[in-house]
Amino acid sequence: MPDVSRRGFIRNGLFGLGGLYVTTALSGCGSDDDDSLGFGTFDHGVASGDPLADSVILWTRVTPSDTSAEAVRLSWEVADNAEFNNVLAEGTGEAHISRDFTVKVDVRGLLPDTRYYYRFRTATQISTVGKTRTLPDLSSEHLTLAVVSCSNYPAGYFHVYGELAKRDLDLVLHLGDYIYEYGSGGYASEQASAMGRESLPANELFTLDDYRTRYAQYRSDADLQAAHASAPFLVVWDDHEIANDTYDGGAENHNDGEGDFDERKLAAMRAYFEWLPIRPEGAVSSDELAMPSSIYRQFQWGDLVNLLMLDTRNEARAKPLVITDYFDAATGAFDFEGLFADINDPSRKLLGDAQLDWLRSAMASSSATWQLLGQQVLMGQMYLPFAIATQQMAIPDYAELGAIALLAARAQAGDPTLTAEELAYLQANQSRLTPEVLALLQAPAVPYNLDAWDGYGAAREAVYQIARESNARLVVLAGDTHNAWASELQDAEGNAVGVELATASVSSPGLEKYLGIPAGAYAETEAGIVQLVAGLKYLNASDRGFLTLDITREKIDAQWEFVSSIKQASYQLQSTRAQQMQVQAGSPVQFV
Ligand SMILES: [Fe+2]
Repeated sequence: MPDVSRRGFIRNGLFGLGGLYVTTALSGCGSDDDDSLGFGTFDHGVASGDPLADSVILWTRVTPSDTSAEAVRLSWEVADNAEFNNVLAEGTGEAHISRDFTVKVDVRGLLPDTRYYYRFRTATQISTVGKTRTLPDLSSEHLTLAVVSCSNYPAGYFHVYGELAKRDLDLVLHLGDYIYEYGSGGYASEQASAMGRESLPANELFTLDDYRTRYAQYRSDADLQAAHASAPFLVVWDDHEIANDTYDGGAENHNDGEGDFDERKLAAMRAYFEWLPIRPEGAVSSDELAMPSSIYRQFQWGDLVNLLMLDTRNEARAKPLVITDYFDAATGAFDFEGLFADINDPSRKLLGDAQLDWLRSAMASSSATWQLLGQQVLMGQMYLPFAIATQQMAIPDYAELGAIALLAARAQAGDPTLTAEELAYLQANQSRLTPEVLALLQAPAVPYNLDAWDGYGAAREAVYQIARESNARLVVLAGDTHNAWASELQDAEGNAVGVELATASVSSPGLEKYLGIPAGAYAETEAGIVQLVAGLKYLNASDRGFLTLDITREKIDAQWEFVSSIKQASYQLQSTRAQQMQVQAGSPVQFV
């Protein structure tokens, strides 16, 4: 199907899936008669999101008491205190089966930079109280936000979400993989049964009902409910909200036998808009609104932060490159020239022209101190020595040779963190560094993840150029990898353009699993990778956690925190693994 008609199909398919009630905050408006309310409970909590200076989206879902009901009437209230003795806005609406009984309210006419409390009511139940806030409109000196991604229900407990709920956060950014699409027993589900967290439905997600059931399961989690009730979320999807490694027109985890990809994508997007407190674009004062497939959008925290949430996944992403396609198994030859030509091919899009134009004008017209990009995949160049990056290839004894190669590279670089044991191991195995292995070592470094910006070099340069033209104090936020990273960003000419701060996952496994890092060797391996990768300043490859940013005019204090376990119901924060870094507002911005 041609690109244009496919996108038209998605847009048309989403059109008219309204479900958003608009209300104007008016002090003293009349209360609705409780007799008109229907019967149902709020089993999936409450949420708020996409605040502006004068409005915010409120969300809930009703579980009808009568399972044959098609609609349940409910009411909502907004107040300036948790006791609701001064209700500022209220109204009624309907949770309807056509939207899986989810409800969104776009509350208008609120004051800027103000905290609000909200709750919903049926004839059966009053919901828990949610806390939210509006954005400052003019000047602001401070913003505290958390960054999370990759919350995988069967992989472990959502302790990270529980920690967010304890903090006094202005905003929570969820950078995607809010759900995972695999069936029960799939990815990272080894201990799901023991934890009582086996995926529902049991099958991989394909239909609207499948995606809705999965969201309902995730939102039954008490920690996730607590996080949503504690602060407004700004969400963007990554791949697993649809299927692994989604691109424009397909996904790694979708084959022809699984039906039409566009229909699957439409079902996934529809469930996303139903279940997450995201503002449909172009909201107007009507009950039935379009839900566009574009989710890139802007939030201005006064004159302090211009926050631009991007979609690197579903706007224009060209099919990711596959590194084994450049490897000739018969001869062992690797086509470096072909790989780099494809990476730097300007016709391979990631954001797409429309989103790039929007980004250019949103950044150029901003005079905010900081330009923050809230987006999915790692932007920093993550080039590893060829032998390490290409471990997926069929190189005999790769694991051992790779370990020796890594040690040799670290020794060559004069890594002071090499232990006596490691040096002894290297010496004992030096003879295995044959000419073939040495040739691998001397090969050009290659990107380890071609699904990230590293696989779209020309697209990345376009973003860097926009940042340079705007003299942006650029801070890029990322999720997707399941690991915590901090990098200096450089363009192809080696000019510093900003920094990147990436969050660990809530519960999905990280590099410790993919690289097979033995427990007890985490810190050494992380130090080794930091030594090997140009621009990389920090890596935690093994722990689940979150990132908080404390932003002022002069600096950003970034703090990574990690939980001791996601497999046990009890846990602590790991104080020894916590990491703090400071970003200074200069031109360009840099780590202190
Ligand atoms: Fe993920």
